[in-house]
Amino acid sequence: DAVSLVESHLREVPDFPAPGVLFRDITPLIADPQAFKVLIETIAERYRGQVDAVAGLESRGFILGAPLAIEMGVGMLTVRKGGRLPGPVVGVDYDLEYGSARMELQPFTVADGQRVLVIDDVLATGGTANAAFELIERAGGVPTRLCVLIELRELGGRERLAGREVDAVLTY
Ligand code: PRP
Ligand code: MG
Repeated sequence: DAVSLVESHLREVPDFPAPGVLFRDITPLIADPQAFKVLIETIAERYRGQVDAVAGLESRGFILGAPLAIEMGVGMLTVRKGGRLPGPVVGVDYDLEYGSARMELQPFTVADGQRVLVIDDVLATGGTANAAFELIERAGGVPTRLCVLIELRELGGRERLAGREVDAVLTY
């Protein structure tokens, strides 16, 4: 199943990108053709018929979002880091532990009332996903749920996304 697939292909890297942080690296998973294919098929099966588009969060969400969109027969929306998309865009600024970040979306890529599945590799503090939900709504879409491979429970993402549906393949 998806859980053991992800679990068996993760690489745990201590002290990256900063001392004391245990980084969970999904690159071995996506480098394995069979594992990657089965993972995408399994996720697609879970949401098939329930969504009209997939929104991938730059950058690692793109790796999962694009094949998922193809597999489900829906379009792919790109929620990008600030300043990368030609306008018009809607944007949301949010706070990080140190400093701030911005995500943007081109509203003309979202159809009115379109049901959008938000996909990313990791849910940490929830800032990125929360921005995506808000952007999709401002663009006229209906973000139905967030799907991540890995949820880092102690960083409080689920609380920050209170009221949103969150599915995690693996939780730490
Ligand atoms: C990481 C990860 C998620 C986000 C989660 O992305 O891929 O998108 O952080 O953190 P949050 O829940 O606290 O917002 P990162 O910004 O490192 O960039 P990348 O995907 O381009 O590697
Ligand atoms: Mg990311």
